Amino acid sequence: MSRFEKLLDRLGRERRLATEEYEELVRTLSREEAAGEREELFARAGRVREAVYGKKVYIRGLVEVSNVCRNDCYYCGIRKSNGHAVRYRMDQEEILECCREGYRLGFRTFVFQGGEDPAMTDEVVEALVAAVHREFPDCAITLSLGEKERESYQRFFDAGASRYLLRHETASPEHYRRLHPPSMSWEHRVQCLRDLKEIGYQVGCGCMIGSPFQTAEHLAEDLKFMERLQPEMVGIGPFISQKDTPFRDFPGGGLTQTLVMLGLIRLLLPRVLLPATTALGTIDPEGRQKGILAGANVVMPNLSPPVRRKQYMLYDNKLGTGEESAEGLALLKAQMQSIGYQVVTDRGDYPGT
Ligand code: 5AD
Repeated sequence: MSRFEKLLDRLGRERRLATEEYEELVRTLSREEAAGEREELFARAGRVREAVYGKKVYIRGLVEVSNVCRNDCYYCGIRKSNGHAVRYRMDQEEILECCREGYRLGFRTFVFQGGEDPAMTDEVVEALVAAVHREFPDCAITLSLGEKERESYQRFFDAGASRYLLRHETASPEHYRRLHPPSMSWEHRVQCLRDLKEIGYQVGCGCMIGSPFQTAEHLAEDLKFMERLQPEMVGIGPFISQKDTPFRDFPGGGLTQTLVMLGLIRLLLPRVLLPATTALGTIDPEGRQKGILAGANVVMPNLSPPVRRKQYMLYDNKLGTGEESAEGLALLKAQMQSIGYQVVTDRGDYPGT
């Protein structure tokens, strides 16, 4: 058995490796000529996922509730210094309309994502969650609204939110400082993830693949971080440059490396809910299908009104109207069927919670 097969075996058995071993896997598998090794990784990831989830692909309805943000992340198109961004904030009724449309289409999980908008106070978010929970008691509510105080997270949880997505962005504090201004702290972000876990949320972390200054060692640290945190969800996608940001001239992350990370994460966390993200679909016309075949099991079609989608520009050329949109659900189902998977509409909670 080759060295890389031994490592995959042990990762599959023990669900942990040394950071250097993760790094070796990331390096080996990301080389373009390692196509055979990647096929082996994806086959193993597929078997692991199938043992837990069968051929089911879960859908989450994404509502981009606000693109106002107090932060200034160097990679992000809705950073506060971007004067070209046309800012918006949806009110409760506009968001509820998105949910109604989504519910009609079969969605049973709503994800409210937005920048760190100071107008989205605890009262506003709490009232929103309560209203959605009241109108759609059979649906799961996921929030993705950035860093908050523990008390705020607790209030949203008590109002009916059960899942929270907060990408850790990078597990390396030194790399974090190269992606964010000094006003932001890696320690605080990680503390938020711990608070969310303790409160009882199903928690999602994640990072971009191929972000500026990222090395294989950083990705290995990301895997180690996930091994420790044991998140219920992980969101990863390629970095894509945005023309109005300081990182406008950096190359984007690769498809291959993103697929490798999806496969490794599936082996590391067999039950994880792992989306094939919009960013992945943006860099390759078949990115979503490839993501599923590499180990992902979730897709998040966009329920935001089309004018909002265009304004929620985290990166250039973001997909908006095809199978990644709610209107394209029939197309998405057909695509998934063509690769042997079946889109299902149940809430898809983390097994065992
Ligand atoms: N390319 C890819 N992903 C990005 N994000 C923000 N900006 C970009 C970009 N330029 C990701 C971040 C954030 C999530 C909402 O979107 O990881 O957490």
